[in-house]
Amino acid sequence: METFTTMISLVSCLLIFFLVYSFIKFFNSKRRGLPLPPGSLGWPYIGETFQLYSQNPNVFFASKEKRYGSIFKTHILGCPSIMISSPEAAKFVLVTRAHLFKPTFPASKERMLGKQAIFFHQGDYHAKLRKLVLRAFMPEAIKNIIPDIESLAMDSLKSREGQLINTYLEMKTYSFNVALLSIFGKDEMLYREDLKRCYYILEKGYNSMSINLPGTLFNKSLKARKELAQILAKILSTRRQMRHDHNDLLGSFMGEKEGLTDEQIADNIIGVIFAARDTTASVLTWIFKYLGENPNVLKAVTEEQESIIKSKEESGEDKVLVWADTKNMPITSRVIQETLRVASILSFTFREAVEDVEYEGYLIPKGWKVLPLFRNIHHSADNFREPEKFDPSRFEVAPKPNTFLPFGNGIHSCPGNELAKLEILVLLHHLTTKYRWTVVGEQNGIQYSPFPLPQNGLPVRLFPKTQKINADEENPSPTSQRLS
Ligand code: HEM
Repeated sequence: METFTTMISLVSCLLIFFLVYSFIKFFNSKRRGLPLPPGSLGWPYIGETFQLYSQNPNVFFASKEKRYGSIFKTHILGCPSIMISSPEAAKFVLVTRAHLFKPTFPASKERMLGKQAIFFHQGDYHAKLRKLVLRAFMPEAIKNIIPDIESLAMDSLKSREGQLINTYLEMKTYSFNVALLSIFGKDEMLYREDLKRCYYILEKGYNSMSINLPGTLFNKSLKARKELAQILAKILSTRRQMRHDHNDLLGSFMGEKEGLTDEQIADNIIGVIFAARDTTASVLTWIFKYLGENPNVLKAVTEEQESIIKSKEESGEDKVLVWADTKNMPITSRVIQETLRVASILSFTFREAVEDVEYEGYLIPKGWKVLPLFRNIHHSADNFREPEKFDPSRFEVAPKPNTFLPFGNGIHSCPGNELAKLEILVLLHHLTTKYRWTVVGEQNGIQYSPFPLPQNGLPVRLFPKTQKINADEENPSPTSQRLS
């Protein structure tokens, strides 16, 4: 009797197992049976990479969206990919189902920045790094460095008075210096030139072909990467000997509880410089351009900034900017928002499906890349009226949810966004109250390096407002434009 009962239990278990197995199989095969999104995979292996890079990439994205709708498949850079351009799909990938889509970068880029940098990770290690980065960049922490950011902004403008400058290169220097300040505080400024020299070589290789042979940019860049890590090791060892607490990013990474290795710290410091510099510099360059093209907006920003100076003078306050001043710049803040939207310097980001995922009746197969197209979302008439027009006043009303994503969304969204906005506001305060500028040469072209930028980095001539300008300087070429 006992044997019979055991047999019955065994058979029941097998039956249940079989049913569960069949259900999973049935479910998976149904999922497998789902159609892929519409679109074309192009030629074998090369796919549509050529179509993407032989023109302005945004034309590729926009024309595909027009043809196939807000979710379509393609094949770029050797990978089958799905591009999405609706706010709901972006939320699905970046927020609600973020665990099903891991961040992904080409192996050569990972090697250059460092495999242990925050961007490449998910789960506990990512959460720990994110906590440390946010701690260093939250308003409470960055408030304290406003006077130093101000000095950097003033020095950077003063050193270029009367000169013809490449706006983008100047803004890169400024955003690099602010990034170092936020990472190392003022202590390690003596390493600034060495860090700059190595980082600039590293950056050239980052955007080059990944051929590691003596003399190639990629090879030089890997060597510079090594030297950077050595400089950082020196800074770490000096700090450990000094035993002072620091409120900067390095201090946050070095906290004893955190248990990060020197290599993890180095990868993340280099990663943060990378994330902070060209992004902020590109946005600043576009702001120079848009303010130049919109004299009424420039006038409104200038008046807002002058009124801050005036009210400080009247109340006998110190002249230096404080956090409360930067929170009292609504017009200037809307100019930043509108520039982030129109320029959409990060047109998209990359994820990879970690398993088969169903979205709106389509299959997103495991291993395929998924690209939320921020720029398409920002330039859709469904989300922003007259999307091609530069109109900061549109931000007087908050945008619809998930339609404004300049800093991404979800667990990988930008932890440096407060710092980026702060350093832009500080620079604009001094630029608009003390300077006027003229754009020199071509004004309508766009270059991709890799972010979209005004042609040739927007060459401008910068004058102190106190200086009288002679006619030649004011109008250096037929296409130049007097602003302010
Ligand atoms: C206007 C300037 C900036 C823009 C437009 C920008 C944009 C973005 C975006 C869109 C992402 C998310 C990428 C994704 O989801 O794949 C991101 C991530 C990130 N940004 Fe920024 N960023 C800017 C400035 C900064 C600054 C100043 C810092 C640091 C000081 C910074 C540090 C980071 C880091 C560390 C990440 C990775 C976060 C993670 O993976 O958890 N960014 N940024």
